[in-house]
Amino acid sequence: MTKNKGLFITVEGVEGVGKSTNIETIKNFLAEKDVECVLTREPGGTLIAEEIREILLKPREEKLTELSELLLVFAARAQHLATVIKPALVSGKWVICDRFTDATYAYQGGGRGLNKSVITGLEDMVQNELRPDLTVILDLDPETGMKRAAKRGSLDRFEQEHLEFFNKVRAVYLEIARSEPKRCVIVDASSPIETVQVSLRAIIQSKLAEYFD
Ligand code: TMP
Repeated sequence: MTKNKGLFITVEGVEGVGKSTNIETIKNFLAEKDVECVLTREPGGTLIAEEIREILLKPREEKLTELSELLLVFAARAQHLATVIKPALVSGKWVICDRFTDATYAYQGGGRGLNKSVITGLEDMVQNELRPDLTVILDLDPETGMKRAAKRGSLDRFEQEHLEFFNKVRAVYLEIARSEPKRCVIVDASSPIETVQVSLRAIIQSKLAEYFD
């Protein structure tokens, strides 16, 4: 089941929101519907971009400056787009990406306080016209998310941030969802897993209907 261009789906949310489980649900649903898809993540998704991810996530004594962080995120993204995302979409496959540029607005813009217009400039340069067709924002109170993330073991450089940081991250995600209601869907990730899965299936089903219309 392929068309000219696949659909680009991104999944976002604060730490501990349950992205992996929910991405699995989307992947399985698409497989049931015979839609070929590529599952990938940011930062990462290619050998080089995964090395950049290491730099971004590993806690170190030397402070990574906010600007270095931003540029590394977009360096990984440029590599990922050229190597994985664009070729998959062009071949008609759907792409499900665990985080994308909304995470940059949320973390580097909201969390770190970097200027939105700087992020927009890089977004335009790196992506040209390419934007996700659908973004699922899994919403959860960051305090609950942080507790869940802490249970997974040692914390990465972002997970070590304070609650205030994640409150800002969440606020930006909600703001993006409000300003782009056609692209973004908020899913309440505090609901029971079965409820979340039902919502996700319905969201994907309606995209499938639009796509194959
Ligand atoms: P995760 O994929 O395990 O959630 O971890 C990736 C981390 O990277 C997460 O804390 C959010 C952060 N991140 C950014 O700060 N900016 C970005 O643009 C992306 C894609 C991720």
